[in-house]
Amino acid sequence: MAEDLSILKGSKQAQYESLIPQIEGLLMGETNLVANLANISAALKEQFNWWWVGFYWVHDNELVLAPFQGPVACTRIKKGRGVCGGAWEQGKTLIVEDVEKFPGHIACSSASKSEIVVPVIKEGQIVGVLDVDSELLAHFDETDQLYLEKIVGLIP
Ligand code: SME
Repeated sequence: MAEDLSILKGSKQAQYESLIPQIEGLLMGETNLVANLANISAALKEQFNWWWVGFYWVHDNELVLAPFQGPVACTRIKKGRGVCGGAWEQGKTLIVEDVEKFPGHIACSSASKSEIVVPVIKEGQIVGVLDVDSELLAHFDETDQLYLEKIVGLIP
């Protein structure tokens, strides 16, 4: 497909519904992990213009910074630390409406106010997480969870 996204305005659901087939197109025939994580981050940033969106990937029992869009970020997160390490340890998506109220939140940027972290699961193992930060409080909900879980499920 052409490497241009069509950016739809409208409800959050409509935006995800328009974006998902385009992400499928970007991933089609490409097996390189870095390339695919980079394009998913870029597509989500272009559609939603979130403050920070990207991946941490499991290496040697730590989460290590992987392709992302946004300001520079901390590079390594241990299991159980912060929202990312928490989602990894608990094996489920975490939605944090106010990061200041999340014990152990890792503040990569003081601008970040709310966050969603979605585990990427391959053959029953968590291999990484998708992390999204917003400068708005309570920006993420179950609709984001539903669609972001679908999107990480597309990673080959
Ligand atoms: N806030 C995250 C750390 C990663 S950055 O937000 C990019 C956390 O608490 O795990």
